[in-house]
Amino acid sequence: MTRVRVAASPRPYEVLIQGGLLACSGEQLREWLGGDTPSLFVVTVPAVRRRWGEKLARSLSGRGFRAQWLEMPDGEPHKTLATVARLAERLARLHADRDAVIVAFGGGVVGDVAGLVASLYMRGVNVVQVPTTVLGQVDASIGGKTAVNLPAGKNLVGTFHQPLAVLVDPEVLSSLSERQFRAGLYESLKCGVIGRPELFHRLERADWRALRRDPVMLEWVIAESIKLKAEVVSADERETGLRRVLNFGHTIGHALEAESRYRRFLHGEAIAWGMIAATEIAKEMGVCADATRRRIGDAVLRAGALPRVVARGKDILGRLATDKKTREGLVHFVLPRELGKVEIVNHVPPSLVLAAVDGLRKLGTRE
Ligand SMILES: NC(=O)c1ccc[n+]([C@@H]2O[C@H](COP(=O)([O-])OP(=O)(O)OC[C@H]3O[C@@H](n4cnc5c(N)ncnc54)[C@H](O)[C@@H]3O)[C@@H](O)[C@H]2O)c1
Ligand SMILES: [Zn+2]
Repeated sequence: MTRVRVAASPRPYEVLIQGGLLACSGEQLREWLGGDTPSLFVVTVPAVRRRWGEKLARSLSGRGFRAQWLEMPDGEPHKTLATVARLAERLARLHADRDAVIVAFGGGVVGDVAGLVASLYMRGVNVVQVPTTVLGQVDASIGGKTAVNLPAGKNLVGTFHQPLAVLVDPEVLSSLSERQFRAGLYESLKCGVIGRPELFHRLERADWRALRRDPVMLEWVIAESIKLKAEVVSADERETGLRRVLNFGHTIGHALEAESRYRRFLHGEAIAWGMIAATEIAKEMGVCADATRRRIGDAVLRAGALPRVVARGKDILGRLATDKKTREGLVHFVLPRELGKVEIVNHVPPSLVLAAVDGLRKLGTRE
């Protein structure tokens, strides 16, 4: 079992990573909660409950926990204040009190919604994150950011609310679609570029399809990604500076997602394109060597087919002006210097952004 500590306020917490952990979740919660037996409220979506609910439920009841299950509808369109309000209402009807513990059991959407509910209900109750997608495990469940979307934009309403603990069982990833699985892994590749060169090396050589059937390697990849995120978050809990390195690939990636109205790409796929574009820009600006550019580009494209980019450079440039990462009119880019090292640059000439995005359109891969 890998244990990763996240230094955060009001207290540090642990991320546990191990195949089969779901079946021991009751035991782990006992360890964290001691003799207390608060009521647990598991927030999930029907698909995750159907496939994995029984395992979690059995382990919790085996350790004397009483768990109530709250389902929310599946998918990003339900990451809204209305869903938060409905869940809070249900908690109240079930007599959840201040000692209640919410268990967020699902992908990043469940993690974000349940995390936000936990931070608001009775001015804040504890949440344990049990992420079930690659993206949830390596990214969304760590760091305490919660949010929902508004019609005006994604993640516009949210809080920082650190979990009590995070339980990561890579075995649950076996039921993810191949596309969802791979999309999440681009975030791991991102972690490699930012600060874990060995992770990058292994991912660039691996067959990503085979990874799902290689529990040892998969657990290592997930654990290394989590370590990177935990280190960055621990150094900069409120995203004032250092944490921005996690946005490698996200400046153009977010713009591509928005430009295609969140329909064309899964988040990780847009980030995959964004990493290629940022690396092109880095090479053009002399921030990284051509060999580094080639390796990052090849690693992304080798991993599997991506939906093609059809957006035009000038439309993406327009999007960047309204991005959350724009500060005082300057768009900041996270650019790779070498594998495992990035830097933040806020004077990227628009002509380079144009060229990089138009370059993506020529790269293919899947319609
Ligand atoms: N808080 C953060 O720091 C942070 C970071 C990154 C992303 N996010 C958020 O995460 C969300 C995306 O997360 P996501 O990609 O996990 O999407 P998601 O939660 O919508 O999950 C994707 C799909 O996979 C299904 N699923 C989940 N686990 C499964 C399993 N084990 N087997 C089979 N199917 C399963 C879900 O039901 C869903 O249909 C976005 O809303 C994003 O904003 C938050
Ligand atoms: Zn991301």
